[in-house]
Amino acid sequence: MTFTLPRRAALAALATLAAWQPALAQDNVFKIGLVLPMTGQQATTGRQVEAAARLYMAQHGDTVAGKKVQLIVKDDTSLPDQTRRLAQELIVNDKVNVLAGMGITPSAMAVAPLATQSKTPLVVMAAATSSITEASPYIVRSSFTLPQVSVALADWAPKNGIKTVVTLVSDYGPGIDAEKFFNQRLTFNGGKVTESLRVPLRNPDFAPFLQKVRDLKPDALFVFVPSGAGAAVMKQFVERGMDKAGIKLIATGDVTDDDQLNDMGDGALGVVTSHHYSAAHPSELNKKFVDAFQKANKNLRPNFMAVGGYDGMRVIYEALKASKGQGGGDALLAAMKGQIFESPRGPVFIDAQTRDIVQNVYLRKVERKDGQLYNVEFDVIKDVKDPGKTK
Ligand code: PHB
Repeated sequence: MTFTLPRRAALAALATLAAWQPALAQDNVFKIGLVLPMTGQQATTGRQVEAAARLYMAQHGDTVAGKKVQLIVKDDTSLPDQTRRLAQELIVNDKVNVLAGMGITPSAMAVAPLATQSKTPLVVMAAATSSITEASPYIVRSSFTLPQVSVALADWAPKNGIKTVVTLVSDYGPGIDAEKFFNQRLTFNGGKVTESLRVPLRNPDFAPFLQKVRDLKPDALFVFVPSGAGAAVMKQFVERGMDKAGIKLIATGDVTDDDQLNDMGDGALGVVTSHHYSAAHPSELNKKFVDAFQKANKNLRPNFMAVGGYDGMRVIYEALKASKGQGGGDALLAAMKGQIFESPRGPVFIDAQTRDIVQNVYLRKVERKDGQLYNVEFDVIKDVKDPGKTK
């Protein structure tokens, strides 16, 4: 069959358009590659962050500045080699506009050079070692840092009869940060860390360490373990009769994690922690957040990981709006810096210099409220910057 010239031209135009359309559709999509541990030891972090990110999208719509926001979730099983491989695929094959998630510090560190090379903003929603934001100028953090939350507890302890402390931390970045900053501040306040114990991150057995603490008999045991491991520490602390032996448990809020707290039993009552988020934070915004999160997730209580995911999405959405949907990595990054907003945790600020989050740190005590265990806030230190930053 032969075509007349105008028909042939029309067909050619159609073919061009057909080839064009996917590209156009692609241009109108804004992709967020969310890499999280969805299985394995840190699975609760993945579950919390993903649920919160989806809640944010459900509440704020998936069209922002004319772009359709697409969330691509990948499970790195908390193995940093996997995080790096998945992030690479997301950058090269999916051409994501933003990377996000990062359940543990080694994952964030593994992806940092890729963010730098590809000029892709990386929103760290969970990992909390101080130095992460220094690993790439493209990293912005919506979670917290261990130095930020540990110092408050080292101020509280000596004023409350605690002079000698043994520290027990997971033996990697955030644990070492918590150990160092708690120790420095307690010493400055006239207290003393009599022993510093470190447990492996993977499959820790707390029993021999707790036995050692019992023998040392400090006024208190200070603990940091990552989200998900707190219930095991609490259980063994009580089983070994540490509380009865007169040793108080104090910790970062990672230990009395809202994801697990309600199942920890009465042994957790009275434990004092410092942290940036409690599901019991008494603000209107937080009540709405907790209700909506629980409704969407079979009554699961949001923890501090969820709030990191929720606020991280806010940072991304507002950056997309501010750059009018046009921006590449650098424009997005610029619009992420300096954001100030009210989070379910309280007022927060993304420091433009450090790209880290400035936020309130609360002292809390585990109490029973309406039949459930909560971290009830009793004091606040306002607008705390990460004290771990070297510059
Ligand atoms: C981390 O690996 O940076 C991390 C993980 C879980 C936490 C805190 C820090 O609860």
